[in-house]
Parts: sequence; C-alpha cells; structure tokens
Amino acid sequence: MLRTHNCGELRIDNLNDTVKLSGWVQKSRDLGGLTFVDLRDRYGLTQLTFNMDDNAEICKQARALGREYVIQIEGTVVERSSKNDKMPTGNIEINVSKLTVLNASKTPPFTIENETDGGEELRMKYRYLDLRRNPVQEKLFLRSKLAKEVRNYLDSADFIEVETPVLIKSTPEGARDFVVPSRMNEGQFYALPQSPQTFKQLLMVSGFDRYFQIVKCFRDEDLRADRQPEFTQIDCEMTFVEQEDILSTFEHMMRHLFKSVKGVELKDFPRMDYADAMRLYGSDKPDIRFGMEFHDLNDVTQNLGFKVFDEAELVIGICAKDCATYTRKQLDALTDFVRRPQVGAKGLIYAKMNEDGSIKSSVDKFYNEEQKQAWADKVGAEKGDLILIISGDVNKSRSAMSELRLHLGAELGLRDKDTFAPLWVTDFPLLEWDEETKRFHAMHHPFTSPKLEDFDKLESAPGEVRANAYDMVINGVEVGGGSIRIHNRATQEKMLSLLGFTVEEAKAQFGFLMDAFEFGAPPHGGIALGFDRMCALFGGSESIRDYIAFPKNNSGRDVMIDAPAPVSKEQLDELFLQTKPAK
Ligand code: AMO
Repeated sequence: MLRTHNCGELRIDNLNDTVKLSGWVQKSRDLGGLTFVDLRDRYGLTQLTFNMDDNAEICKQARALGREYVIQIEGTVVERSSKNDKMPTGNIEINVSKLTVLNASKTPPFTIENETDGGEELRMKYRYLDLRRNPVQEKLFLRSKLAKEVRNYLDSADFIEVETPVLIKSTPEGARDFVVPSRMNEGQFYALPQSPQTFKQLLMVSGFDRYFQIVKCFRDEDLRADRQPEFTQIDCEMTFVEQEDILSTFEHMMRHLFKSVKGVELKDFPRMDYADAMRLYGSDKPDIRFGMEFHDLNDVTQNLGFKVFDEAELVIGICAKDCATYTRKQLDALTDFVRRPQVGAKGLIYAKMNEDGSIKSSVDKFYNEEQKQAWADKVGAEKGDLILIISGDVNKSRSAMSELRLHLGAELGLRDKDTFAPLWVTDFPLLEWDEETKRFHAMHHPFTSPKLEDFDKLESAPGEVRANAYDMVINGVEVGGGSIRIHNRATQEKMLSLLGFTVEEAKAQFGFLMDAFEFGAPPHGGIALGFDRMCALFGGSESIRDYIAFPKNNSGRDVMIDAPAPVSKEQLDELFLQTKPAK
C-alpha cells in the first residue's frame, strides 16, 4: 500500500507514529522557514509541515508542489501548536521526512475545496475534478448508502433482484423513447426502456412473487431540476397482493430508510385521494409541510358585480397567516409571479385583514365589508392575515394557485428541508383526456387496473373511472408511483381500445403480455420509486443532478464527454440511416 493511514484518521493518539500518507495537495502555504501543505483524500484533510531547518531539500521540494499534485509522504505525527477544532485531524500534523511526487497536476480550472469558484458549466465539463470535492463526494456516499439499505430491506422481505433488458421495443404510450438502430435488422429499432414495466409483470406471471431492481430508465422528455433523461428507479412488483399490501410494504421501507440513513422517525403516512389533493392543493403531489389549503369562494364572490369573478369557473382563495403587512411592492411581486407564463394566471386579488377589523382589498369598488368578511370566514382569515384570490378556468386557476402557494410557503420559511411530510395520493383517474390529440391517455400507464366499483363506467363515462393507482409524495416531490395491474386479457384489450388502439395495434404492441395473461397470470401490483429524487430529498437538495455521478445538463448533453455527437458516414450507412440533406 502507498499509505499506512488515510487523510482523515490520524488523531492525538497517534503522536510520534511514523506514517505514510498519499493524496492530493489541496493547498500549500509557504511561511519562509516553514511550509504547510493540506493533503486531501476521500476521508479528509491532514496538515503536513516541512521545516527548512530540519530538511532544506524536502522543504524546497514542498515549495514546488502545485495544487492537485498527487504525492506520497512519510513522516512523524506531532501535536499542532495552533489547533484547528473544525478539522477532525486538527490536533495533529505530520512532520515530513520523505516526499515523493506520484503525479503532477496542471492548475485546476476551479478551486477544489468545499466552496468552489467554478460555475456549473465548468464544473460539469471537469466533473471528475468536481467529484474530488468533499461535499460532492458526500452526495454519492449517501446514494450508495441508500442503495445498500434498499437492497438489505428488500432482500430481508424476500424480494429478488432480476435484471431486465435494456434493448427493448418502442411503445407509443408515455414519454418519448430513445431509440437504437439495429445493424442486423435494416430499418428496425430497439428502444431503451422508460421503465421495466412489462418485464416485471411477466416475472410475476413466471412466479417470482417478489421482484425488485435498481434500474436505469430512459425518457426523452424536457428536463427540469427533478428530471434527467436517464435516471434510476427502485422498481418493485409483488404477486397476490392488494393495494393496501403495496402501500404498507413501501411505507415501511421508506420509514426504515429514513431511520437508518437519516435517523428520522416518520409517522404513519396520511392518505389523500386525488380529487381532494386537486381541490385542496391544486396538485397531485401536495407539499403538506404547511397548510394554506384552497377554499372555493364562488358562492361568496360571484353575482355581486365584479365581472372577472362572475365569469370565472372557479374563484379560489388562500389565507397567508400574518401577511397583512405585505407592502404594495411585495403584493406587486406576487402578482408578477402569478402572471409569469409558466404560472399562467391573469391576475391576483388580495384582501388584507387589518388590525382595526377593517378589510382592505384590491376590489373594494365591488365588495362591501360584510361581503369581504364572508371571504375571510371561508378561508379562515383573522386580523393580520392576507387573503389571496385567483379565478378563471378550474384547472388553470388550481395550477396557478398551487404555484403561488409553494412560492409563498418558501418565502415564509414553511418548507424546511429537514422536515419530512410524506403522503400517499390514491384513487387517480384511470384516463386523462388530451385536447390536442382528442383522445384518452392512461394517467399512469395502460397496465393499471380500474377500480372494481367504477368498472361499469368504462363504457359510459371513461373519464370518471378511477384507477387502483397511487403515488408516494414527500415534501411535494413525487417520489414514486405504482398500481395494481390488469391481469386478464379481456380487460387489457378493453383498456387499450379506450386508449385508441385498434385490435391489430394492440396485438402488435402488447400481444406478448396479453398472451402471457392467458397462461395463469396471478393478480399482481407494484411501484417504482425515483431513486435520484429520493437521494436529493434525503440530502436536502432540489436538484437530482448533484446525486448523479455524471449527469446531463438541461439540454440533455453530457458536456464532459461531449455527447450526443455525430457518427461517421460509415456508421450511418451500416445502420441504414441517412442524414438530413443540408438545407
Ligand atoms: P413513473 O413513470 O411514475 O412509474 O415513474 C416512477 C418514479 O420515477 C421517477 N421519475 C423520474 N426521476 C428522474 N427523472 C425522470 N425523468 C423521471 N421520471 C420518473 C419519479 C416517479 O415517481 N412503471 C411505473 C411504475 C409502476 O407502475 O410500478 C413507472 O415508471 O419519482
């Protein structure tokens, strides 16, 4: 070994020990007769001292060391005269008697310390250097620890890990597929899996009973802080279960993970059905760390002469506690926020509950004190509170109000990253109408079963059918989702026909699954948890990118290896692909 110890482990107990350390030069300071070097590895930092009086030759060598040189030293552990209680090794330093440069380094493009001066783009280009920084490494240690705990837990609950293929077939449902041309089959393509959904169901047909896989999934969709084109799921499936069994198994798993990895005890996860989540929070993944629920104000605001409210499908109000002191400027900022195209409201109406009992609103022309008091009663506002109102089309108003609620929650410090509020959202609609394509889409995926009690609406009112589908939501993040599956051919055929597949198309796309259902498919269901999102949540970050060793940027590019990239004409020919002629 090129070392006897690592750079984070030496303590005062090691005084006078002769040690060998290897690592990277984080920083060096030359104080004339003395040179100090901070030596870094994955485990921490140790201070090295080179004394001109003791050994002038080595001291000169040390002065020539640049940042990020890889060195090996031999020396004696001594007590520091000025101790650093912020560093675990801060009581000692190494008096160096031998120095070997294992490799030189160019000056790095940004400082490799906990706080760096490197911008995002630069750090991504040199991701291997960014990954040398301790806070970045810690994120990947957390990821590894979580994966290990997940495996332990699922293993002890009899789940077996099975790998499913990565080169599969493109399907028209869900997000866009990444496709891979086949050299051996002219004009034909594989697709990378958006999830192993059909394979895990087939494993249940095969009798594996409990499956899991920590698996890469690929989706060609627009990227955001919580979305990457390739991401990892903890994908699970169970046989002979009902929804309650899945919720209980994975709630226990999540509680175990919080306890073992973060030392946090979570209480039982509350449940909320989709309809309530939309009505009370305007979102199917409400952040319930704080209240500020929506209140329907139609009956206390309409038909009193204010056209905007009168013409609205929905008028919703929320109560921001103790915010009546908001200034004109703050209220204008909130109005600008809701008017941003991403939020999409036309405007924002406010009413301040003054300390003297009066109510000052932005629509005082249309409403008297008594009428405004009725709003306050509805939203539960008291003296000192601020009522905020958005109106318009149901879906748009709810979604804009949801954005405003989250924005205010953050502004008021109600979204503490160390508080965890889990929630199961259940009873999702089976289908979602898409105005653009004028057809139904599966809200979860086409293999999700309808609720038995809604079965008779499949023909008459498909939009009203609820599914045996559920999402696990923590702090407003959709951590996972799953469902009890269809396991017979007739229902699967029915579902595909509702989604607009002809009999032939259904057979061509999913014939293998429906055939399998005819060979004794057991009832089954499952869930997939977004592993990157879980890591970010555990680590207290909004962005999943920090928890991925080599992530893509917002344009789906890996700027380090410079991918995607063109391929040669020969490769294209071999794959029977043509490039677009230049315009
Ligand atoms: P779903 O599509 O809901 O379900 O995905 C499951 C979970 O995966 C995470 N996730 C993502 N994470 C990062 N980047 C992305 N682009 C991304 N897309 C999804 C989310 C999500 O909740 N086969 C079904 C599961 C099942 O029914 O068992 C599925 O894939 O946290």
